[in-house]
Amino acid sequence: MSLSILGIACSPRPKSNSSQLLLEGLKTAQTLGGKTELVYLADLKIHPCRGCGACSTKGVCVIRDDIPMLQEKLKQADRVVIAAPIYFMGVNAQTKILLDRMQPFWALKYLHRQPTANPPDRKRSGIFISTAGTRKPDVFKCAERSIQTFFHMLDIRYFQPCLYSGVDQAGEIFDHPTAFEEVRSAIQILLAP
Ligand SMILES: Cc1cc2nc3c(=O)[nH]c(=O)nc-3n(C[C@H](O)[C@H](O)[C@H](O)COP(=O)(O)O)c2cc1C
Repeated sequence: MSLSILGIACSPRPKSNSSQLLLEGLKTAQTLGGKTELVYLADLKIHPCRGCGACSTKGVCVIRDDIPMLQEKLKQADRVVIAAPIYFMGVNAQTKILLDRMQPFWALKYLHRQPTANPPDRKRSGIFISTAGTRKPDVFKCAERSIQTFFHMLDIRYFQPCLYSGVDQAGEIFDHPTAFEEVRSAIQILLAP
């Protein structure tokens, strides 16, 4: 049976650098027989976590928006690829909303001892793709830590980062000498049996 790969494009801008790399990754996954799905976060109706703690009761969020649909996709995916830009030395706002709204998974896992995948007990893994305008040595540090925590909570092995600094204008990633090849090869390994 073919693996399902969920790609989440978190940048809000057209011709986004991180999204271009994600598209390349999903194209590679398709050629390898993977069943891919791409979600643009900017197309969804999403609201930030209110910190109300209601999800602690049953692992269900009280906010009615598109996040539960995304949670379902995340539960079912065999592989997850998150592509997000760096804003103010961390993930951008849309990505942060996504991460915070995964708190019901935390409640399910740690309070209710329930699986975060459906079907459970599968070996799942994921990749983080990101681009940043500057070349500061620690520019991906906060974002990577957040994404690692997200993957850990979902029992998704954090397989590999594909992080590219010094890439600022939309589409500038196309001039990068290695990024596309590195993403292709990361996806190949991610899908290897
Ligand atoms: C609001 C905003 C904040 C940003 N903050 C940073 C930053 O702190 N560090 C950095 O290196 N680049 C920063 N950038 C530049 C982006 O990380 C860069 O343009 C990146 O390639 C965007 O990825 P995207 O095309 O996938 O959206 C910022 C851009 C915006 C719009």
